[in-house]
Amino acid sequence: MKTLQAKMHNSVSWAVFTGLAALCVFQGVPVRSGDATFPKAMDNVTVRQGESATLRCTIDNRVTRVAWLNRSTILYAGNDKWCLDPRVVLLSNTQTQYSIEIQNVDVYDEGPYTCSVQTDNHPKTSRVHLIVQVSPKIVEISSDISINEGNNISLTCIATGRPEPTVTWRHISPKAVGFVSEDEYLEIQGITREQSGDYECSASNDVAAPVVRRVKVTVNYPPYISEAKGTGVPVGQKGTLQCEASAVPSAEFQWYKDDKRLTEGKKGVKVENRPFLSKLIFFNVSEHDYGNYTCVASNKLGHTNASIMLFGPGAVSEVNNSTSRRAGCIWLLPLLVLHLLLKF
Ligand SMILES: *[C@@H]1O[C@H](CO)[C@@H](O)[C@H](O)[C@H]1NC(C)=O
Ligand SMILES: *[C@@H]1O[C@H](CO)[C@@H](O)[C@H](O)[C@H]1NC(C)=O
Ligand SMILES: *[C@@H]1O[C@H](CO)[C@@H](O)[C@H](O)[C@H]1NC(C)=O
Ligand SMILES: *[C@@H]1O[C@H](CO)[C@@H](O)[C@H](O)[C@H]1NC(C)=O
Ligand SMILES: *[C@@H]1O[C@H](CO)[C@@H](O)[C@H](O)[C@H]1NC(C)=O
Ligand SMILES: *[C@@H]1O[C@H](CO)[C@@H](O)[C@H](O)[C@H]1NC(C)=O
Ligand SMILES: *[C@@H]1O[C@H](CO)[C@@H](O)[C@H](O)[C@H]1NC(C)=O
Ligand SMILES: *[C@@H]1O[C@H](CO)[C@@H](O)[C@H](O)[C@H]1NC(C)=O
Repeated sequence: MKTLQAKMHNSVSWAVFTGLAALCVFQGVPVRSGDATFPKAMDNVTVRQGESATLRCTIDNRVTRVAWLNRSTILYAGNDKWCLDPRVVLLSNTQTQYSIEIQNVDVYDEGPYTCSVQTDNHPKTSRVHLIVQVSPKIVEISSDISINEGNNISLTCIATGRPEPTVTWRHISPKAVGFVSEDEYLEIQGITREQSGDYECSASNDVAAPVVRRVKVTVNYPPYISEAKGTGVPVGQKGTLQCEASAVPSAEFQWYKDDKRLTEGKKGVKVENRPFLSKLIFFNVSEHDYGNYTCVASNKLGHTNASIMLFGPGAVSEVNNSTSRRAGCIWLLPLLVLHLLLKF
């Protein structure tokens, strides 16, 4: 009986107090300094797509009703859930804090959320902005390209993300050239063979590590013979003629002697082809092998040729090469000594 009376007494005095307080508010007199800051929501909330966002509202014990709203839609009012979205849950509803959590946040959740409270029958709101960040993602990129020298190319790299990612193009190999474009598009007019190689598109915002994708640019050009080396070989020895050509696609090689094509399988001769090099090998050079050979390098864009001499030891001394001439003298020396010795 006693306790009931005490309770009744308490509630009566509470009603009187709240009535007075309401009166004060309506008269525009703040009940307590600092009240204007209630309810206090946190600063803007920034989360990444897929993460959970906590919306906190700091209140005090004079608050009688609380709610969180998404724009004008009530998400929670007190302990009651008003929205159907299963990702929205109540975290705490105490005398000091009223917070909810939005799980698995997506971009469409971005926007203003409102904490609405009633203190002494007086509504107040506080707004917090939910900002959703999304890692950069390259959604469209040009495929590898094969182009003839002199033509124009245009590479595209489209990326999404929040904030909008910065897209750049770099030429990374065979030589690291560096930035070649500061946006989604890379246009090259009159492409040269030096501009072939790997290009890397990079999309970055501050949300996550930049994402990169590569595009291989192949620049085709006709063969160019960079080295055609003749050689002097005595009869009975092994001799090699060498022809080096750069080309894209790789050159195919053919050898001619004078105007006659050297066919594969000719006795004592072998052709060794590599992508940038062809060797004509004579296993046992004979007198009639000497002469003027022509190396022809061709690909789908064109062909070129170079003439290479296979000459005998007589011709070796004619070559303006002091080293080989001196070498010739050294070979003669033992013969001279032998000749002298035999005379005695
Ligand atoms: C919160 O976000 C909104 C909208 O993006 C912006 O106008 C406001 O300045 C931000 N407030 C703070 C405190 O960052
Ligand atoms: C907030 O409102 C927007 C617009 O109506 C809606 O797309 C989004 O799903 C809502 N998010 C939450 C967590 O209620
Ligand atoms: C390359 O682009 C230039 C300038 O737009 C144009 O004049 C030229 O005809 C183009 N070349 C080719 C091979 O398309
Ligand atoms: C090279 O050819 C000559 C003449 O046909 C022959 O006498 C000699 O034995 C051959 N040498 C070798 C290493 O095959
Ligand atoms: C070799 O032949 C080519 C053409 O077949 C000619 O242009 C060149 O002068 C010749 N070289 C020699 C040393 O005879
Ligand atoms: C080598 O090139 C010249 C000039 O382009 C051409 O006249 C000649 O026929 C070519 N020789 C061969 C064997 O292809
Ligand atoms: C041969 O070499 C010498 C010295 O290196 C040089 O002076 C001369 O001009 C060369 N001759 C030819 C035909 O290349
Ligand atoms: C001279 O001949 C030697 C031996 O054959 C060779 O190693 C050298 O490269 C030649 N030098 C020149 C300048 O042709």
